[in-house]
Amino acid sequence: MHGEKLTPYEQFQTEVDVDNFPKGEMTPRAARAYVESHLWTDANPMLNLSSFVTTYMEPEVTELMAMNAHVNYIDHDMYPKSYHLESVMVKWLHELWNGPKDAEPYGTATVGSSEACMLAGLAHKWNWRQAREKAGKDASRPNMVTGGNVQIVWKKFLRYFDVEPRIVPLQPGKYTLTAEQLDQYVDENTICVVAIAGQTFTGEDDDFKGIHAWLDEYEKKTGISIPMHIDGASGGFIHPFLYPDYEWDFRMPRVASINASGHKYGLTYPGIGWVVFRERQIFNEGLVFYVNYLGGESPTATLNFSRNAAQIIGQAYQMVRYGREGYTRIMRLTVDNAEHLRNRLVESGYFEIMNETQSIPVVALTLKKGVKKFNEFDVSFKVREKGWVLSAYSMPPDAESVNSLRIVVRPHLNRNSVNDLADDIINACKYLEEHGGTATPPQLHGHKKTAPKC
Ligand SMILES: Cc1ncc(COP(=O)(O)O)c(C=O)c1O
Repeated sequence: MHGEKLTPYEQFQTEVDVDNFPKGEMTPRAARAYVESHLWTDANPMLNLSSFVTTYMEPEVTELMAMNAHVNYIDHDMYPKSYHLESVMVKWLHELWNGPKDAEPYGTATVGSSEACMLAGLAHKWNWRQAREKAGKDASRPNMVTGGNVQIVWKKFLRYFDVEPRIVPLQPGKYTLTAEQLDQYVDENTICVVAIAGQTFTGEDDDFKGIHAWLDEYEKKTGISIPMHIDGASGGFIHPFLYPDYEWDFRMPRVASINASGHKYGLTYPGIGWVVFRERQIFNEGLVFYVNYLGGESPTATLNFSRNAAQIIGQAYQMVRYGREGYTRIMRLTVDNAEHLRNRLVESGYFEIMNETQSIPVVALTLKKGVKKFNEFDVSFKVREKGWVLSAYSMPPDAESVNSLRIVVRPHLNRNSVNDLADDIINACKYLEEHGGTATPPQLHGHKKTAPKC
Protein backbone atom coordinates (compact mmCIF):
# COMPACT_ATOMS: atom_id res chain seq x y z
CA MET A 1 0.00 0.00 0.00
CA HIS A 2 1.27 3.45 -0.88
CA GLY A 3 0.47 4.96 2.48
CA GLU A 4 1.99 8.34 1.73
CA LYS A 5 -0.99 9.09 -0.49
CA LEU A 6 -3.47 8.41 2.30
CA THR A 7 -4.65 10.83 4.99
CA PRO A 8 -3.61 9.88 8.51
CA TYR A 9 -7.25 9.06 9.33
CA GLU A 10 -7.26 6.52 6.54
CA GLN A 11 -3.95 5.11 7.72
CA PHE A 12 -5.44 4.64 11.21
CA GLN A 13 -8.01 2.30 9.64
CA THR A 14 -5.43 -0.28 8.53
CA GLU A 15 -6.71 -3.49 10.02
CA VAL A 16 -4.48 -6.08 11.63
CA ASP A 17 -5.35 -9.76 11.51
CA VAL A 18 -4.57 -10.83 15.05
CA ASP A 19 -4.71 -14.54 14.21
CA ASN A 20 -2.05 -14.64 11.51
CA PHE A 21 1.42 -13.20 11.16
CA PRO A 22 1.08 -9.90 9.25
CA LYS A 23 1.25 -10.47 5.50
CA GLY A 24 2.64 -7.22 4.17
CA GLU A 25 4.04 -3.96 5.43
CA MET A 26 2.25 -0.82 6.55
CA THR A 27 3.41 2.78 6.87
CA PRO A 28 5.26 3.86 10.02
CA ARG A 29 2.31 6.04 11.00
CA ALA A 30 -0.19 3.23 10.56
CA ALA A 31 2.04 0.82 12.53
CA ARG A 32 2.41 3.28 15.32
CA ALA A 33 -1.30 4.09 15.34
CA TYR A 34 -2.13 0.40 15.52
CA VAL A 35 0.19 -0.33 18.45
CA GLU A 36 -0.56 2.91 20.28
CA SER A 37 -4.33 2.65 20.02
CA HIS A 38 -4.12 -0.96 21.11
CA LEU A 39 -2.53 0.25 24.38
CA TRP A 40 -4.97 3.09 25.07
CA THR A 41 -6.99 1.20 27.65
CA ASP A 42 -3.98 -0.06 29.61
CA ALA A 43 -3.57 1.49 33.05
CA ASN A 44 -1.70 4.75 33.43
CA PRO A 45 1.60 3.64 35.03
CA MET A 46 1.70 6.79 37.20
CA LEU A 47 -1.58 5.74 38.82
CA ASN A 48 -0.57 2.11 39.09
CA LEU A 49 0.12 1.91 42.81
CA SER A 50 -0.04 -1.86 42.91
CA SER A 51 3.48 -1.82 41.52
CA PHE A 52 6.81 -1.00 43.09
CA VAL A 53 8.36 -0.23 39.74
CA THR A 54 9.70 3.23 38.87
CA THR A 55 7.51 5.36 36.61
CA TYR A 56 9.34 8.68 36.64
CA MET A 57 12.86 9.57 35.57
CA GLU A 58 14.18 12.93 34.43
CA PRO A 59 14.27 13.80 30.71
CA GLU A 60 18.11 13.91 30.73
CA VAL A 61 18.30 10.28 31.76
CA THR A 62 15.48 9.01 29.56
CA GLU A 63 17.33 10.58 26.64
CA LEU A 64 20.54 8.90 27.71
CA MET A 65 18.75 5.57 28.00
CA ALA A 66 17.12 5.95 24.58
CA MET A 67 20.56 6.74 23.08
CA ASN A 68 21.79 3.39 24.39
CA ALA A 69 18.71 1.30 23.69
CA HIS A 70 20.54 -0.58 20.94
CA VAL A 71 23.54 -1.57 23.07
CA ASN A 72 23.66 -5.27 23.93
CA TYR A 73 25.08 -5.17 27.40
CA ILE A 74 26.53 -8.69 27.41
CA ASP A 75 29.14 -7.74 24.83
CA HIS A 76 31.64 -6.57 27.45
CA ASP A 77 34.55 -6.64 25.07
CA MET A 78 32.88 -4.16 22.72
CA TYR A 79 31.29 -2.05 25.46
CA PRO A 80 33.90 -2.11 28.21
CA LYS A 81 32.83 1.26 29.57
CA SER A 82 29.27 0.07 30.16
CA TYR A 83 30.71 -2.98 31.90
CA HIS A 84 32.90 -0.73 33.98
CA LEU A 85 29.86 1.24 35.16
CA GLU A 86 28.29 -1.98 36.37
CA SER A 87 31.45 -2.96 38.31
CA VAL A 88 31.57 0.47 39.91
CA MET A 89 27.95 0.19 40.99
CA VAL A 90 28.51 -3.28 42.45
CA LYS A 91 31.33 -1.74 44.51
CA TRP A 92 29.08 1.11 45.63
CA LEU A 93 26.30 -1.25 46.64
CA HIS A 94 28.72 -3.47 48.54
CA GLU A 95 29.82 -0.37 50.44
CA LEU A 96 26.24 0.94 50.86
CA TRP A 97 25.23 -2.42 52.32
CA ASN A 98 28.23 -2.42 54.63
CA GLY A 99 30.20 -5.24 53.05
CA PRO A 100 33.49 -6.05 54.79
CA LYS A 101 36.14 -3.52 53.75
CA ASP A 102 38.81 -6.14 53.14
CA ALA A 103 36.60 -8.26 50.87
CA GLU A 104 36.53 -8.08 47.10
CA PRO A 105 33.08 -6.70 46.12
CA TYR A 106 31.38 -9.13 43.79
CA GLY A 107 27.97 -9.11 42.19
CA THR A 108 26.09 -8.28 39.05
CA ALA A 109 23.31 -6.29 37.50
CA THR A 110 20.37 -8.47 36.54
CA VAL A 111 17.05 -7.94 34.82
CA GLY A 112 15.32 -7.60 38.18
CA SER A 113 15.33 -8.99 41.67
CA SER A 114 13.95 -12.26 40.34
CA GLU A 115 17.11 -13.03 38.38
CA ALA A 116 19.19 -11.74 41.29
CA CYS A 117 17.42 -14.05 43.77
CA MET A 118 17.86 -17.03 41.47
CA LEU A 119 21.61 -16.37 41.18
CA ALA A 120 21.96 -16.03 44.95
CA GLY A 121 19.92 -19.20 45.50
CA LEU A 122 22.08 -21.08 43.01
CA ALA A 123 25.29 -19.89 44.69
CA HIS A 124 24.04 -21.19 48.05
CA LYS A 125 22.90 -24.47 46.53
CA TRP A 126 26.32 -24.98 44.88
CA ASN A 127 28.22 -24.10 48.05
CA TRP A 128 26.09 -26.38 50.17
CA ARG A 129 26.48 -29.29 47.72
CA GLN A 130 30.25 -28.90 47.47
CA ALA A 131 30.61 -28.79 51.24
CA ARG A 132 28.43 -31.90 51.64
CA GLU A 133 30.32 -33.81 48.96
CA LYS A 134 33.64 -32.84 50.49
CA ALA A 135 32.44 -34.17 53.83
CA GLY A 136 31.31 -37.41 52.15
CA LYS A 137 27.65 -36.70 53.00
CA ASP A 138 24.45 -37.06 51.03
CA ALA A 139 23.99 -33.99 48.81
CA SER A 140 20.78 -34.96 47.07
CA ARG A 141 18.15 -33.24 49.20
CA PRO A 142 18.79 -29.49 49.51
CA ASN A 143 16.14 -27.34 51.16
CA MET A 144 15.72 -23.63 51.69
CA VAL A 145 13.95 -22.02 54.63
CA THR A 146 11.94 -18.83 54.32
CA GLY A 147 8.64 -17.27 55.37
CA GLY A 148 5.21 -17.48 53.78
CA ASN A 149 5.64 -13.79 52.97
CA VAL A 150 8.20 -14.45 50.23
CA GLN A 151 7.63 -13.09 46.77
CA ILE A 152 6.82 -15.65 44.11
CA VAL A 153 10.36 -15.63 42.75
CA TRP A 154 11.55 -17.82 45.64
CA LYS A 155 8.87 -20.39 44.96
CA LYS A 156 9.95 -20.35 41.33
CA PHE A 157 13.58 -20.78 42.35
CA LEU A 158 12.71 -23.73 44.56
CA ARG A 159 10.70 -25.48 41.89
CA TYR A 160 12.86 -24.67 38.88
CA PHE A 161 16.12 -25.58 40.61
CA ASP A 162 14.88 -28.55 42.59
CA VAL A 163 15.28 -27.31 46.12
CA GLU A 164 12.79 -28.46 48.74
CA PRO A 165 10.63 -25.57 49.95
CA ARG A 166 10.55 -25.15 53.71
CA ILE A 167 8.16 -22.26 54.06
CA VAL A 168 7.14 -21.14 57.53
CA PRO A 169 3.43 -20.27 57.30
CA LEU A 170 2.05 -16.87 58.24
CA GLN A 171 -0.77 -16.35 60.69
CA PRO A 172 -3.46 -13.68 60.78
CA GLY A 173 -1.72 -10.72 62.41
CA LYS A 174 1.80 -12.18 61.96
CA TYR A 175 3.18 -11.60 58.51
CA THR A 176 6.93 -11.91 58.96
CA LEU A 177 9.53 -14.63 59.44
CA THR A 178 10.89 -14.85 62.98
CA ALA A 179 13.09 -17.37 64.76
CA GLU A 180 10.00 -18.97 66.23
CA GLN A 181 9.44 -22.40 64.68
CA LEU A 182 12.81 -22.44 62.84
CA ASP A 183 13.68 -25.60 64.73
CA GLN A 184 10.96 -27.40 62.76
CA TYR A 185 12.37 -26.25 59.41
CA VAL A 186 16.16 -25.89 59.49
CA ASP A 187 18.46 -28.88 59.24
CA GLU A 188 21.78 -29.99 57.75
CA ASN A 189 20.29 -29.81 54.24
CA THR A 190 19.32 -26.15 54.49
CA ILE A 191 21.24 -24.22 51.83
CA CYS A 192 20.30 -20.83 53.32
CA VAL A 193 17.61 -18.92 55.16
CA VAL A 194 16.04 -16.11 53.14
CA ALA A 195 14.77 -13.11 55.09
CA ILE A 196 13.14 -10.05 53.55
CA ALA A 197 13.83 -6.35 53.96
CA GLY A 198 10.61 -4.61 52.93
CA GLN A 199 8.34 -7.50 52.03
CA THR A 200 5.89 -7.49 49.16
CA PHE A 201 2.69 -7.93 51.16
CA THR A 202 2.96 -5.48 54.04
CA GLY A 203 6.32 -3.78 53.52
CA GLU A 204 7.61 -5.13 56.86
CA ASP A 205 11.00 -6.66 57.63
CA ASP A 206 11.63 -10.16 58.86
CA ASP A 207 13.29 -10.49 62.25
CA PHE A 208 16.91 -10.52 61.00
CA LYS A 209 18.49 -10.29 64.43
CA GLY A 210 16.36 -13.06 65.92
CA ILE A 211 16.96 -15.39 62.97
CA HIS A 212 20.69 -14.65 63.02
CA ALA A 213 20.94 -15.34 66.75
CA TRP A 214 18.97 -18.56 66.32
CA LEU A 215 21.32 -19.73 63.55
CA ASP A 216 24.32 -18.90 65.78
CA GLU A 217 22.86 -21.08 68.52
CA TYR A 218 22.11 -23.81 65.98
CA GLU A 219 25.73 -23.76 64.83
CA LYS A 220 26.93 -23.97 68.42
CA LYS A 221 24.76 -27.03 69.01
CA THR A 222 25.30 -28.85 65.71
CA GLY A 223 28.45 -27.42 64.09
CA ILE A 224 26.35 -26.59 61.00
CA SER A 225 26.76 -23.07 59.71
CA ILE A 226 23.88 -21.80 57.57
CA PRO A 227 24.17 -18.55 55.59
CA MET A 228 21.43 -15.94 55.26
CA HIS A 229 20.31 -14.20 52.10
CA ILE A 230 18.53 -10.87 52.46
CA ASP A 231 15.90 -10.13 49.84
CA GLY A 232 16.11 -6.36 49.80
CA ALA A 233 14.11 -5.97 46.57
CA SER A 234 12.52 -2.87 48.09
CA GLY A 235 14.39 -2.29 51.35
CA GLY A 236 17.82 -2.40 49.70
CA PHE A 237 17.41 1.14 48.39
CA ILE A 238 15.56 2.52 51.42
CA HIS A 239 17.11 1.17 54.62
CA PRO A 240 20.68 2.40 53.96
CA PHE A 241 19.40 5.93 53.51
CA LEU A 242 16.67 6.24 56.12
CA TYR A 243 17.95 3.87 58.81
CA PRO A 244 21.76 3.91 58.60
CA ASP A 245 22.17 2.46 62.11
CA TYR A 246 19.78 -0.41 61.56
CA GLU A 247 21.70 -3.63 60.90
CA TRP A 248 19.82 -5.44 58.16
CA ASP A 249 22.78 -6.03 55.85
CA PHE A 250 26.36 -7.40 55.64
CA ARG A 251 27.03 -6.07 59.14
CA MET A 252 25.44 -9.35 60.23
CA PRO A 253 28.20 -11.90 59.64
CA ARG A 254 25.87 -14.63 58.39
CA VAL A 255 24.52 -12.46 55.56
CA ALA A 256 26.27 -13.84 52.49
CA SER A 257 24.22 -12.20 49.73
CA ILE A 258 21.73 -9.40 49.19
CA ASN A 259 19.52 -8.54 46.24
CA ALA A 260 17.66 -5.34 45.41
CA SER A 261 15.57 -4.05 42.52
CA GLY A 262 17.16 -1.11 40.77
CA HIS A 263 13.77 -0.62 39.12
CA LYS A 264 11.95 -0.25 42.43
CA TYR A 265 13.36 2.27 44.91
CA GLY A 266 16.63 2.27 42.95
CA LEU A 267 14.58 4.69 40.82
CA THR A 268 15.31 3.25 37.37
CA TYR A 269 12.85 2.10 34.71
CA PRO A 270 12.37 -1.69 34.43
CA GLY A 271 14.29 -4.02 34.21
CA ILE A 272 17.26 -3.83 36.47
CA GLY A 273 18.10 -5.67 39.65
CA TRP A 274 21.23 -6.32 41.66
CA VAL A 275 22.79 -9.18 43.54
CA VAL A 276 25.85 -8.52 45.65
CA PHE A 277 27.85 -11.12 47.56
CA ARG A 278 29.62 -10.57 50.81
CA GLU A 279 32.84 -11.69 49.14
CA ARG A 280 33.98 -13.11 45.84
CA GLN A 281 34.20 -16.75 46.85
CA ILE A 282 30.50 -17.02 47.78
CA PHE A 283 29.59 -16.90 44.12
CA ASN A 284 30.72 -20.39 43.35
CA GLU A 285 33.13 -20.46 40.40
CA GLY A 286 31.24 -23.50 39.08
CA LEU A 287 28.45 -21.13 38.01
CA VAL A 288 30.67 -18.93 35.82
CA PHE A 289 31.12 -19.53 32.10
CA TYR A 290 33.72 -17.91 29.90
CA VAL A 291 32.80 -17.17 26.29
CA ASN A 292 34.94 -15.92 23.44
CA TYR A 293 32.51 -15.53 20.58
CA LEU A 294 31.76 -11.87 21.05
CA GLY A 295 35.42 -10.91 20.67
CA GLY A 296 37.77 -11.24 23.64
CA GLU A 297 36.94 -13.46 26.60
CA SER A 298 33.93 -12.55 28.74
CA PRO A 299 32.75 -14.16 31.93
CA THR A 300 29.01 -14.76 32.12
CA ALA A 301 26.99 -16.11 34.98
CA THR A 302 23.65 -14.38 34.67
CA LEU A 303 20.58 -16.32 33.61
CA ASN A 304 20.01 -13.98 30.68
CA PHE A 305 22.70 -13.44 28.07
CA SER A 306 21.75 -10.53 25.80
CA ARG A 307 20.18 -7.60 27.59
CA ASN A 308 19.75 -3.88 27.15
CA ALA A 309 22.47 -1.61 28.52
CA ALA A 310 19.99 1.26 28.89
CA GLN A 311 18.88 0.36 32.40
CA ILE A 312 22.44 -0.03 33.63
CA ILE A 313 23.27 3.37 32.21
CA GLY A 314 20.07 4.82 33.67
CA GLN A 315 20.88 3.36 37.09
CA ALA A 316 24.36 4.88 36.98
CA TYR A 317 22.83 8.28 36.22
CA GLN A 318 20.43 7.99 39.17
CA MET A 319 23.21 7.02 41.57
CA VAL A 320 25.51 9.88 40.62
CA ARG A 321 22.64 12.32 40.22
CA TYR A 322 21.21 11.80 43.72
CA GLY A 323 23.95 10.25 45.81
CA ARG A 324 23.30 9.31 49.43
CA GLU A 325 21.90 12.71 50.27
CA GLY A 326 19.45 12.84 47.38
CA TYR A 327 18.23 9.27 47.90
CA THR A 328 17.78 10.02 51.60
CA ARG A 329 15.59 13.04 50.92
CA ILE A 330 13.58 11.24 48.23
CA MET A 331 12.94 8.23 50.46
CA ARG A 332 12.05 10.49 53.42
CA LEU A 333 9.43 12.39 51.49
CA THR A 334 8.02 9.17 50.04
CA VAL A 335 7.69 7.53 53.46
CA ASP A 336 6.16 10.78 54.81
CA ASN A 337 3.57 10.70 52.03
CA ALA A 338 2.85 7.04 52.81
CA GLU A 339 2.36 7.91 56.49
CA HIS A 340 0.05 10.74 55.57
CA LEU A 341 -2.03 8.44 53.36
CA ARG A 342 -2.11 5.75 56.01
CA ASN A 343 -3.27 8.23 58.68
CA ARG A 344 -6.02 9.59 56.46
CA LEU A 345 -7.31 6.13 55.66
CA VAL A 346 -7.18 4.92 59.25
CA GLU A 347 -8.94 8.14 60.40
CA SER A 348 -11.72 7.45 57.88
CA GLY A 349 -12.83 4.66 60.21
CA TYR A 350 -13.01 2.02 57.48
CA PHE A 351 -9.53 0.51 57.71
CA GLU A 352 -7.03 -1.10 60.01
CA ILE A 353 -3.36 -0.93 59.22
CA MET A 354 -1.52 -4.23 58.71
CA ASN A 355 2.05 -2.92 58.93
CA GLU A 356 2.57 -1.29 62.29
CA THR A 357 6.05 -0.17 61.25
CA GLN A 358 6.20 2.12 58.25
CA SER A 359 9.81 1.54 57.19
CA ILE A 360 9.15 1.42 53.45
CA PRO A 361 6.42 3.46 51.76
CA VAL A 362 3.88 0.65 51.43
CA VAL A 363 0.48 1.08 53.02
CA ALA A 364 -1.18 -2.28 53.69
CA LEU A 365 -4.72 -2.08 54.98
CA THR A 366 -7.54 -4.39 55.77
CA LEU A 367 -11.17 -3.38 56.24
CA LYS A 368 -12.38 -3.27 59.82
CA LYS A 369 -14.39 -6.25 61.01
CA GLY A 370 -17.53 -4.11 61.24
CA VAL A 371 -17.50 -3.40 57.49
CA LYS A 372 -19.88 -6.02 56.12
CA LYS A 373 -21.35 -4.60 52.93
CA PHE A 374 -18.21 -4.60 50.80
CA ASN A 375 -14.70 -5.96 50.71
CA GLU A 376 -11.18 -4.88 49.72
CA PHE A 377 -11.71 -6.09 46.14
CA ASP A 378 -14.75 -3.80 45.81
CA VAL A 379 -12.67 -0.82 46.91
CA SER A 380 -9.96 -1.66 44.41
CA PHE A 381 -12.53 -1.97 41.57
CA LYS A 382 -14.32 1.23 42.55
CA VAL A 383 -11.22 3.45 42.62
CA ARG A 384 -10.22 2.04 39.25
CA GLU A 385 -12.97 4.26 37.85
CA LYS A 386 -10.70 7.18 38.70
CA GLY A 387 -7.70 5.48 37.16
CA TRP A 388 -6.00 4.31 40.40
CA VAL A 389 -4.71 0.75 40.45
CA LEU A 390 -4.50 -0.69 43.97
CA SER A 391 -3.82 -4.34 44.75
CA ALA A 392 -6.39 -6.30 46.66
CA TYR A 393 -5.43 -9.84 47.59
CA SER A 394 -5.86 -12.55 50.15
CA MET A 395 -2.74 -13.11 52.24
CA PRO A 396 -0.62 -16.26 51.75
CA PRO A 397 -1.09 -19.39 53.90
CA ASP A 398 -1.98 -19.63 56.80
CA ALA A 399 -3.31 -16.07 56.82
CA GLU A 400 -5.63 -16.52 53.82
CA SER A 401 -8.61 -15.36 55.85
CA VAL A 402 -7.19 -11.83 55.77
CA ASN A 403 -7.70 -9.66 52.69
CA SER A 404 -5.40 -6.77 52.06
CA LEU A 405 -5.59 -3.54 50.11
CA ARG A 406 -2.05 -2.46 49.33
CA ILE A 407 -0.85 0.90 48.11
CA VAL A 408 2.75 1.33 47.01
CA VAL A 409 3.63 4.99 47.42
CA ARG A 410 6.39 6.06 45.05
CA PRO A 411 8.40 9.27 44.82
CA HIS A 412 6.48 10.74 41.89
CA LEU A 413 3.39 11.21 44.08
CA ASN A 414 3.09 14.52 45.89
CA ARG A 415 0.98 15.49 48.89
CA ASN A 416 -1.84 16.74 46.65
CA SER A 417 -2.05 13.53 44.66
CA VAL A 418 -1.91 11.50 47.88
CA ASN A 419 -4.82 13.55 49.24
CA ASP A 420 -6.76 13.01 45.99
CA LEU A 421 -6.15 9.29 46.33
CA ALA A 422 -7.26 9.27 49.98
CA ASP A 423 -10.45 11.17 49.00
CA ASP A 424 -11.14 8.75 46.16
CA ILE A 425 -10.70 5.70 48.42
CA ILE A 426 -12.88 7.15 51.17
CA ASN A 427 -15.57 8.20 48.68
CA ALA A 428 -15.47 4.71 47.18
CA CYS A 429 -16.06 3.25 50.66
CA LYS A 430 -18.99 5.63 51.26
CA TYR A 431 -20.53 4.66 47.93
CA LEU A 432 -20.05 0.97 48.64
CA GLU A 433 -21.51 1.29 52.09
CA GLU A 434 -24.65 2.71 50.58
CA HIS A 435 -24.93 0.47 47.53
CA GLY A 436 -23.10 -2.66 48.65
CA GLY A 437 -20.29 -4.46 46.83
CA THR A 438 -20.38 -7.66 44.80
CA ALA A 439 -16.70 -8.43 44.20
CA THR A 440 -15.28 -11.88 44.76
CA PRO A 441 -11.54 -12.51 45.01
CA PRO A 442 -10.01 -13.41 41.64
CA GLN A 443 -9.48 -17.16 41.34
CA LEU A 444 -5.88 -18.28 41.18
CA HIS A 445 -5.18 -20.70 38.38
CA GLY A 446 -4.50 -24.26 39.36
CA HIS A 447 -1.65 -26.25 37.82
CA LYS A 448 -3.73 -27.76 35.07
CA LYS A 449 -4.90 -24.51 33.50
CA THR A 450 -2.85 -23.31 30.58
CA ALA A 451 -2.41 -19.88 29.07
CA PRO A 452 -0.85 -18.81 25.77
CA LYS A 453 2.16 -17.32 27.58
CA CYS A 454 4.54 -18.91 30.02
C1 LIG B 1 10.56 -8.96 48.22
C2 LIG B 1 10.59 -9.16 46.73
N1 LIG B 1 11.48 -10.01 46.20
C3 LIG B 1 11.59 -10.19 44.87
C4 LIG B 1 10.76 -9.52 44.00
C5 LIG B 1 10.91 -9.75 42.53
O1 LIG B 1 11.44 -8.58 41.99
P1 LIG B 1 11.50 -8.21 40.45
O2 LIG B 1 10.11 -7.81 40.09
O3 LIG B 1 12.45 -7.07 40.47
O4 LIG B 1 11.99 -9.37 39.68
C6 LIG B 1 9.81 -8.62 44.51
C7 LIG B 1 8.90 -7.89 43.59
O5 LIG B 1 7.93 -7.30 43.99
C8 LIG B 1 9.73 -8.42 45.90
O6 LIG B 1 8.86 -7.57 46.45
